[in-house]
Amino acid sequence: MELYQAIIERRSIRNFKPSELPKDTILKLLTAAINAPSANNRQNWRFIVVTNKALKNKLVEEACEQQFIKDAAVVFAMICTVPGYEIDVALAAENLMLAAWGEGLGSCWIKSFNQEVAKKLLEVGNEEKIVCLIPVGEIAELPEKPARKPLEEVVTFK
Ligand SMILES: Cc1cc2nc3c(=O)[nH]c(=O)nc-3n(C[C@H](O)[C@H](O)[C@H](O)COP(=O)(O)O)c2cc1C
Repeated sequence: MELYQAIIERRSIRNFKPSELPKDTILKLLTAAINAPSANNRQNWRFIVVTNKALKNKLVEEACEQQFIKDAAVVFAMICTVPGYEIDVALAAENLMLAAWGEGLGSCWIKSFNQEVAKKLLEVGNEEKIVCLIPVGEIAELPEKPARKPLEEVVTFK
C-alpha cells in the first residue's frame, strides 16, 4: 500500500479478531517505530510487546478498562525516559500505526490508562513513562473514518 493512502485511510480500530500475529510482522512494526525521527537522534525510547494473554487481560482489567484491547493480538507499550521524550515516542507510535495499517492491521492509540498501575504490571522504571499503549490486531469491524476539519479551517497561507 502506498504511504499516502495508508495515512489518509488509517482510522482507530476498536474491534479486533482474537488472533495472533507472526513474529516477523511484530518485528516489522517495531522496525517502522525505531525509524521515526527523534531529537538529536537520541532514540530515548523502548517498547514492551505484550502478547501474553494473562498479562494483557490484567493490564486491561487493572489499568485500563477498555475491554476491546483484550482481543488485540499485541499491545505495544511505547515508553520514553523522562523528562521530555514524549514527542519522539509519539512519532514512533504513529510510524507503528501506519505500518500496521499498511499490513492490513488495525490499531488504536490508548492514552486513558492508569500510569502507575500499568508501570507496575509491565515492570517499567520510575525514570520512565508509558506514553501510550497501542493494541494491534486483525480488524473485526471497520468503522467509518471520523471526519476531519476542512483545510480552509486549519490552514493559513501567507
Ligand atoms: C493522544 C491521544 C489519546 C488517545 N486516547 C485514546 C483512548 O484512550 N482510547 C481510545 O479508544 N482512543 C484514543 N485515541 C484515539 C482517538 O480517539 C482517535 O485518534 C480520534 O478520535 C480520531 O480518529 P481516527 O484515529 O479514527 O482518525 C487517542 C488518540 C490520541 C492522539
